[in-house]
Amino acid sequence: MSQEFIKVNHITKTYDGEKNILDDLSLTVHKGEVLVVIGPSGCGKSTFLRTLNGLEPIQSGEIRYRGELVDSKSKNITSLRQKIGMVFQSYELFPHKTILQNVMLSPTLVQKRDKKEVEKEAIELLRRVGLEDKKDSYPRQLSGGQKQRVAIVRALAMHPEVLLFDEVTAALDPEMVREVLDVILDLAEQGSTMVIVTHEMDFAKAVANRIIFMDGGHIVESGKPLEFFEAPKTERAKRFLNTFTYETVRKIS
Ligand SMILES: Nc1ncnc2c1ncn2[C@@H]1O[C@H](COP(=O)(O)OP(=O)(O)OP(=O)(O)O)[C@@H](O)[C@H]1O
Ligand SMILES: [Mg+2]
Repeated sequence: MSQEFIKVNHITKTYDGEKNILDDLSLTVHKGEVLVVIGPSGCGKSTFLRTLNGLEPIQSGEIRYRGELVDSKSKNITSLRQKIGMVFQSYELFPHKTILQNVMLSPTLVQKRDKKEVEKEAIELLRRVGLEDKKDSYPRQLSGGQKQRVAIVRALAMHPEVLLFDEVTAALDPEMVREVLDVILDLAEQGSTMVIVTHEMDFAKAVANRIIFMDGGHIVESGKPLEFFEAPKTERAKRFLNTFTYETVRKIS
């Protein structure tokens, strides 16, 4: 088995001191693994992802990244967050900066890397997602799908060791979903380590090494994608997958 990157040990998380939003959750992510987290709305997927790079404090248990404690209040958290990049549903690009400037901002400002080098790499990354010709445009001149690809490039420009994706296609029109998912599939093929929250079940099946099905702040079931989708073990997962089939059928008819 390859190297352990993220080790989550019996964590609990509450926002109000009463209900556990994450409830005794444990898992390990190895180098090169693509983990897809699915589950009903409100089950704690986003919260979980945010705890992984210390954006949310936890109440008990611990998270380690390559042995190092992930603690939202500790001094090392800024450097840890550079290793564990995150892309959200809303891309939050700076409107008054060009696409190239948006991508170059953190590597030059936070990581203090050489401007020329960063620029060269930023252009190469934009080329990889088919957006080299947009480098001097402003975010308002791009489509949602293009902006989301820029957001992914912006995360990649920081040289993260792990990437976390939280429903990055949820706000996009259907025809733009594909172009963003293709970029993530490419990253998976190149061996990137990723934890992905998505409602796109076909994509989950294609990209994942392992599916984590969550409900009520727990991991209810985890397994290889084919096993999970073809023969879910728990009643809860079966019900969840049936709802999806129903919704898809409804959308088509
Ligand atoms: N900042 C917050 N303060 C209080 N409660 C919160 C906060 N953020 C989330 N919650 C609650 O925690 C629970 C889990 O939310 P979370 O956003 O992690 O769910 P999710 O699985 O990502 O859902 P979705 O699929 O709709 O994005 C929900 O009940 C939500 O209302
Ligand atoms: Mg969410």
